[in-house]
Parts: sequence; structure tokens; C-alpha cells
Amino acid sequence: LKRHQVAFIGSGAWACAAAKLVAYNCKLSSEGTGEFAEAVRMWVYEEEVGGRKLTDIINETHENVKYLPGISIGDNIVACPDLLDAVKDADVLVFCTPHQFTRDICRQLRGKVNPTAVAISLTKGMRVRAEGPQLISELVRKNLNIDCSVLMGANIAKDIGNEELSEATIGYAVPSNGELFKRLFETPNFYVQLVPDIAGAEMAGTLKNVVALAAGFVDGLGKGPNTKAAIMRAGLNEMRSLAERIYPTVRDETFFESCGVADLIATCYGGRNRLVAEAYVRAYQSGFPKSFDILEAELLAGQKLQGVLTSDEVQSILQIKGWETEYPLFTTVNGIVNGLLPPVAITTYKSAALQSQ
Ligand code: NAD
Ligand code: 13P
Repeated sequence: LKRHQVAFIGSGAWACAAAKLVAYNCKLSSEGTGEFAEAVRMWVYEEEVGGRKLTDIINETHENVKYLPGISIGDNIVACPDLLDAVKDADVLVFCTPHQFTRDICRQLRGKVNPTAVAISLTKGMRVRAEGPQLISELVRKNLNIDCSVLMGANIAKDIGNEELSEATIGYAVPSNGELFKRLFETPNFYVQLVPDIAGAEMAGTLKNVVALAAGFVDGLGKGPNTKAAIMRAGLNEMRSLAERIYPTVRDETFFESCGVADLIATCYGGRNRLVAEAYVRAYQSGFPKSFDILEAELLAGQKLQGVLTSDEVQSILQIKGWETEYPLFTTVNGIVNGLLPPVAITTYKSAALQSQ
């Protein structure tokens, strides 16, 4: 029996929580005649934690003490500091790093992965080139010449690490690959739905990080549920509109899945983008403003914000297309994160968007 060999590329909070789901299924599968091999190799961006290598700590304690402390991710996860070593022999690749690092990783992997491998991306973000945006799944597909599905959803890492009921959406192009990844990730408390809409799921997961910043501004200003709901509703509409405009195959229904409205709700209440945006407003109002980079370092202990970069990436698309005023919430968030507008502008975002031009 030839079993699938799974490799994880990334080892942050979500990568580790997702790896725990995969470790569970690979162990179960290997105990029977299942399709997955037990050991899952995980590429870890090596660093020292308390004077020891993080890979050594993970391999001894089965815990990523820096990025997902307190959670055992499984004794069949094997941490590897060498990227090529991690993917050697693998035919199922799971990408989960902050989006700003994926391009460089793909460059290193070009020509080095099994040509029959299949991939899935859990990364929320996009790259902008002169020709337009490139989603992370497209980046993987183009560079490695392999199929790449996506898994997106309302997936706050720590809660999934703690085995709380959660859902996710897998967007696929090749149905058998979608099914394979559902079997790899789904557990008794992690439900997976399949949608034949990679771009819709991935654009939803990417763009909600910008709306989460807006929700954090609202919280920092001390406004109530009406304002937050107004921002989330408008944000969902801008997400859907932009996704469908750039990728005409995107389906409306995708925005009602976990990757759409559910992820928006989870992130606008419990995510890191929300947290840091709230802190930005409080620092601003105290008269001692702090940059997003400083707040990220102070509040996230090495974890990475995606929303600020994504806001700039989205805005460059809107500028190239001349669509800024048609997306007033995105445009106002971008004005605030770049210091062109005060945080209070979020409460009048329709008129504020015109001022930040
Ligand atoms: P994280 O933010 O917790 O950790 C940052 C990771 O980046 C660490 O593993 C660190 O080692 C690594 N890193 C730092 N510098 C690097 C470099 N130069 N090259 C490569 N790696 C480097 O990571 P995460 O939470 O796993 O996030 C990965 C993706 O998953 C993001 O796109 C995020 O939006 C998405 N996501 C996160 C969550 C969550 O709750 N954390 C949930 C769903 C999706
Ligand atoms: P944050 O990066 O804002 O924590 O969002 C996590 C997430 O994507 C939950 O699904």
C-alpha cells in the first residue's frame, strides 16, 4: 500500500493548529489500511527560543511553545529546519505561512517537489503585480506546476488547538483533490464543506482581514454594536463585489460559507487584526501614537498581521483600476493605516474615502 506522505510548510499558530488536525487523521489512517502515512514533516522557520532551537523543542515536547503554547500538536509531527528536506518524498503539500513569505518559499521549491504532488494553501493574502493580483494558490500552482486547493474559514488558531467546534471551507478545482483534503482535515469537531470556487474562498479569506481592521477601529473608538454591524455588512459587500469583479467565476454562495460571513464574524470579534487595530486607536487617542509594526511586535509575540499589508495590496489594485470611491470602506481603512486619516474617519467612511484621495 502506497500511502500519501504529507508535508506542512509553515509552523505559526494556525499552521500548528491545522497540523494537529492532520496529525490526528494521519495517525488514525496509518493504524488501519488508510491512505495517509503516520509521520507528517513540518518545515519550521528556525529560531532560538530560550536558548534552544525551536525544531528541537517541537520534536521533544510536541508543542510549538512560541506560536501555539499549551497545545500538543501530536507526536507524529516531525519539525524540520530545512525546507527541501521537509518536502522530500511528500506528495501532499500544505502551505501555511504569512503571505509575504510564500513567494520566496515557492522560488526555493521550484523544480524540487514531486511532480505528482497536490497542494493546499491555508494562507490568507495576495500578491500584487503590474498585471493584477495573484492569489497565493495561483502563486503555488504557477511556480510548482501542481494543483493547489485552498482551506479558508472561521479558524482562530488557539480555539481549534483546543478542539472547539469549528468549520472550514475547501475551495477546489479538481474534485478528487477537494475530497482528499476533506479527509485529511475533517475531524469530529472540525467540519469541512467543499466548494468548487477557489478564488471566491481565497478572496473572502484575504479581504476579511481588511474589514477586521475596521472592526478594531470601531472597538478602539468605543462604538457599539450598530456601528460594528454596519462596518461588517459594508465590508462583506465590498469583499464580495471586489472578488467577483476581479475573478468573474466567483460565486455569491461562497460568501455564505465558513470562508465568508463566518470568518468575517470570527475575525472581527476574536482576531489579531482586530486586536492590533483597537490598540492603534487607543495609542492614537492617548497622544502617544504607535505604528502598526510596533504594535504587532508588542502584542503578537512574533505572530504576523496580514491585514495592513493586504490593505495596501488591495488599495494598489483599486488605484490601478480607478475604483477607490466604489470601495469606500477599504479606501478609508487604507487612509487610516497609512496615517492619512484619523481613526474616527471609519465612522464616516463614505465621505472620508473621498478626502483620502
Ligand atoms: P503566525 O502569524 O502565528 O506566525 C508567523 C510565522 O511566520 C512563524 O511560524 C514564523 O516562524 C514565520 N516566519 C517569520 N519570519 C519568516 C520568514 N522570513 N520566512 C518564513 N517564515 C517566517 O502564523 P500563522 O497564524 O500560522 O499564519 C499563517 C497564515 O494563516 C496567515 O496567512 C494567516 O492569515 C492565516 N490564518 C491564521 C489564523 C490564526 O488564527 N492564526 C487563522 C486562519 C488563517
Ligand atoms: P487574524 O489574523 O486577524 O487573527 O485572523 C485569523 C483568522 O483568519 C481566523 O479565521
